[in-house]
Amino acid sequence: MAKMEVKTSLLDNMIGVGDMVLLEPLNEETFINNLKKRFDHNEIYTYIGNVVISVNPYRPLPIYSPEKVEDYRNRNFYELSPHIFALSDEAYRSLRDQDKDQCILITGESGAGKTEASKLVMSYVAAVCGKGAEVNQVKEQLLQSNPVLEAFGNAKTVRNDNSSRFGKYMDIEFDFKGDPLGGVISNYLLEKSRVVKQPRGERNFHVFYQLLSGASEELLNKLTLERDFSRYNYLSLDSAKVNGVDDAANFRTVRNAMQIVGFMDHEAESVLEVVAAVLKLGNIEFKPESRVNGLDESKIKDKNELKEICELTRIDQSVLERAFSFRTVEAKQEKVSTTLNVAQAYYARDALAKNLYSRLFSWLVNRINESIKAQTKVRKKVMGVLDIYGFEIFENADNSFEQFIINYCNEKLQQIFIELTLKEEQEEYVREGIEWTHIDYFNNAIICDLIENNTNGILAMLDEECLRPGTVTDETFLEKLNQVCATHQHFESRMSKSSRFLNDTSLPHSCFRIQHYAGKVLYQVEGFVDKNNDLLYRDLSQAMWKAGHSLIKSLFPEGNPAKINLKRPPTAGSQFKASVATLMKNLQTKNPNYIRCIKPNDKKAAHIFSEALVCHQIRYLGLLESVRVRRAGYAFRQAYEPCLERYKMLCKQTWPHWKGPARAGVEVLFNELEIPMEEYSFGRSKIFIRNPRTLFKLEDLRKQRLEDLATLIQKIYRGWKCRTHFLLMRKSQIVIAAWYRRYAQQKRYQQIKSSTLVIQSYIRGWKARKILRELKHQKRCEEAATTIAAYWHGTQARRELKRLKEEARRKHAVAVIWAYWLGLKVRREYRKFFRANAGKKIYEFTLQRIVQKYFLEMKNKMPSLSPIDKNWPPRPYLFLDSTHKELKRIFHLWRCKKYRDQFTDQQKLIYEEKLEASELFKDKKALYPSSVGQPFQGAYLEINKNPKYKKLKDAIEEKIIIAEVVNKINRANGKSTSRIFLLTNNNLLLADQKSGQIKSEVPLVDVTKVSMSSQNDGFFAVHLKEGSEAASKGDFLFSSDHLIEMATKLYRTTLSQTKQKLNIEISDEFLVQFRQDKVCVKFIQGNQKNGRVPTCKRKNNRLLEVAVP
Ligand SMILES: Nc1ncnc2c1ncn2[C@@H]1O[C@H](COP(=O)(O)OP(=O)(O)OP(=O)(O)O)[C@@H](O)[C@H]1O
Ligand SMILES: [Mg+2]
Repeated sequence: MAKMEVKTSLLDNMIGVGDMVLLEPLNEETFINNLKKRFDHNEIYTYIGNVVISVNPYRPLPIYSPEKVEDYRNRNFYELSPHIFALSDEAYRSLRDQDKDQCILITGESGAGKTEASKLVMSYVAAVCGKGAEVNQVKEQLLQSNPVLEAFGNAKTVRNDNSSRFGKYMDIEFDFKGDPLGGVISNYLLEKSRVVKQPRGERNFHVFYQLLSGASEELLNKLTLERDFSRYNYLSLDSAKVNGVDDAANFRTVRNAMQIVGFMDHEAESVLEVVAAVLKLGNIEFKPESRVNGLDESKIKDKNELKEICELTRIDQSVLERAFSFRTVEAKQEKVSTTLNVAQAYYARDALAKNLYSRLFSWLVNRINESIKAQTKVRKKVMGVLDIYGFEIFENADNSFEQFIINYCNEKLQQIFIELTLKEEQEEYVREGIEWTHIDYFNNAIICDLIENNTNGILAMLDEECLRPGTVTDETFLEKLNQVCATHQHFESRMSKSSRFLNDTSLPHSCFRIQHYAGKVLYQVEGFVDKNNDLLYRDLSQAMWKAGHSLIKSLFPEGNPAKINLKRPPTAGSQFKASVATLMKNLQTKNPNYIRCIKPNDKKAAHIFSEALVCHQIRYLGLLESVRVRRAGYAFRQAYEPCLERYKMLCKQTWPHWKGPARAGVEVLFNELEIPMEEYSFGRSKIFIRNPRTLFKLEDLRKQRLEDLATLIQKIYRGWKCRTHFLLMRKSQIVIAAWYRRYAQQKRYQQIKSSTLVIQSYIRGWKARKILRELKHQKRCEEAATTIAAYWHGTQARRELKRLKEEARRKHAVAVIWAYWLGLKVRREYRKFFRANAGKKIYEFTLQRIVQKYFLEMKNKMPSLSPIDKNWPPRPYLFLDSTHKELKRIFHLWRCKKYRDQFTDQQKLIYEEKLEASELFKDKKALYPSSVGQPFQGAYLEINKNPKYKKLKDAIEEKIIIAEVVNKINRANGKSTSRIFLLTNNNLLLADQKSGQIKSEVPLVDVTKVSMSSQNDGFFAVHLKEGSEAASKGDFLFSSDHLIEMATKLYRTTLSQTKQKLNIEISDEFLVQFRQDKVCVKFIQGNQKNGRVPTCKRKNNRLLEVAVP
């Protein structure tokens, strides 16, 4: 369904007046009261003609919804209550339909809502202009340029948490259909001093904090940054966190926006690298160093930071270090290098950081422009949006070069505002054929001239001073001003030639004051020369140009030695003047639309309206002036159709319909109402009303008449409503009655029908019961006869059964009695035989059973077959004690046999040896028990297999019984050496362990005795037959781990070969023959020094002591 067109007007439900032009009386107080009243009712927008005043609400209002966009879309400017959307719509439609380029000029002081307003305008235009994939991408790119520029160009200040620190002018370009094609952004005067220093309570640009909070660890590492803000001198810490602002999330938004705008990944990375480099520059510190020639020189304190910066920017470290220590001045062909002192070095560092950042910012703007540039070459229509500082007036002469520049820009804007408003007014009068009367207003061209005049303007003189040779200071500049501008009526200075201000104490000596159109501003000259010069030492720009980082290199083209330019770069002032001039030229070709932003309080708080603050702003925004200009001729104008539509009810001829041209209708109307002729004029398409009072009179009459009309409408409506209601009721009553009658008849019929049914059923029931009764009687008679017959048969059967049972019982009793009688007879006969034999038989039987049970149980309880298992089940009966023991013995013998039967011949031999050993040593030598577990291997050393002992093996032909390494105790000192001990059938041999060479050979017949101690050691002596060849050196003393085995084998072999028992002496003290000496070998306990190993020591000629642990 098409939306019904509702004719409304700005004048409907107005709070205060929606258009200040209609304010009566017009003065500052009524102006502020009107604003306040509207502000208190959430009406933050108010018009002055087609200028919109916007008061910052400092809270989200529900007035920017898509529904609101629809409301304002394609509506007349004055049709709905004042809104920024109305202005945007007017501008857009005028651009689209009338082919007029537009500009939207937004001014106001910091925090007044300019940036928000510009975004609202852009989003409105984006919402109402054409749609489609391509168009949407362009829109998205235009809108997403905002977060990127805000991150790099906005900062938290005491006045605004998101203060734009640059001026911005954006041209949005449209095709003939009104679809966006692209845009161009220009930026003005970035406040770069903020990079190196921020006033108390303020922050550096958002991007620094966003980078540190939002970047991933990996990115931070790559940029050699740390997350901690306090690590960086350039970041003020007292307000590093802003309430309600999530820097990390904003970082992601910015990265995303960069991507949408079209930054390549490597470009975005380069940008962040420059940001990181700026941040790190702040951490470079200098210390003084005196040189021999007495000059002060500075040196970098910690080169680590410098190194990281150089790595990041890919600049040779020595180049940058030199640029921080020297300054080269080139004049014609000469080059002079001077060293920098600490203060100069810091100045150079900060200048570099500021330049790097501001150039990066300009680069960003250019890069965005490249992306959002319109792709087609078709003719474009343009809508410019200017978001620039409003007038800035600080108290206490804190106004500096920046304020001077900003105020100059505003002065120019005011100038074209006046020019264009008056021009438009004049054009409208001409268009409408109304006589033009001269309007008196203040023209600020004279102030603009004071500042920008090329010969004696303030900016020109500042440039002149900066370029002049000799010492130039802010004071010499002021002196110059005092001379040249002394007579200018808007220039004030204490020291000016005209002595007008000699006694004005509110004017300090180092200041000058300009009377701007918006009020007087006191400027402090300090810093003017320096800021205007905006110097960066050439050494630094050259160092930057040498960077391997392509973005940085491109930012410093003047550093290229090939393009060396001895001319000074243009000063900041002249640059700004030129860009303002371009801007003004640009704006002049466009249809202006104004948004004047006002800040209601200094606390960034909602609902507070500080009248003094607003009054101040109204003054310097020149708003009253604007109203006056607007009202100069006629206060109100309206096209004839809407005018007639609105007031036609005030005259009988025009109400309810006027047939004829609208203008004639309005004429009739105004004549009828007797409005004085001088109060209005008829234009070609509009009626012009001179005084707001006339309009309000019309409005009052309309209101009254509307009330009468409303009563009339109500009356007719009520009559109509009651009649229709009555007719409806009557119709309904007839319908209800008809329905009811039908219902009642239906009910009666139902009743009669059911009664008939009841009576019928009663009669049928009675008949049926009668028949049933008769049938039942007949049936009962038949049953009685059957029952009686059955009883009679039953009685007969029972009698017969009883008789048969009696007969059977009698027969059984006879059999039982007969059996008892037979038993009695037998028992009497056999009693005497039973007594003689039964007792013995029972005894034997019982015994047999017990023994049987014993053996069967034993079978299940048998212990294991291991000969060493000592287990044997307990004896169950005392009388079986001896049997039980015998059984145990037999079982043990049997299982030993079983065990032995498994032995091979080899094992048998070993066991024989073991038995022999046990006979020889058991309970005699403490070493014996440890030998039981040892397998008697004999040939421990496998001579056959080891090629080292091949010779040894070849030398022995007999079977080897023992081959083992033993320690041979040296007879002289008791020390031991390893020897191979070999025992064959006939000989005992000793060989060298390493070479296998035989050292001694003793025939077994020459071995007379073996001696050893009773203790736990392996020492033993082999005694030789006196006078034998082997005995020339004396007896042998050995020690071995296998002593028991060796002694046993020696014993057995000797016995089998010589048929003589070898004497084995076990004693802790025995004599041995060493050459001629008889030496006593004595075993003593103790000496734990060497742990568990026995030690041997020759004490003297007669004694060799073995200490056994
Ligand atoms: N229409 C609005 N609705 C709600 N809040 C607003 C509106 N306009 C401004 N604000 C609030 O005021 C704050 C400051 O606005 P904005 O940043 O637009 O000021 P500005 O005039 O651009 O200041 P500066 O000159 O410092 O850049 C915004 O962050 C927002 O919180
Ligand atoms: Mg802003």
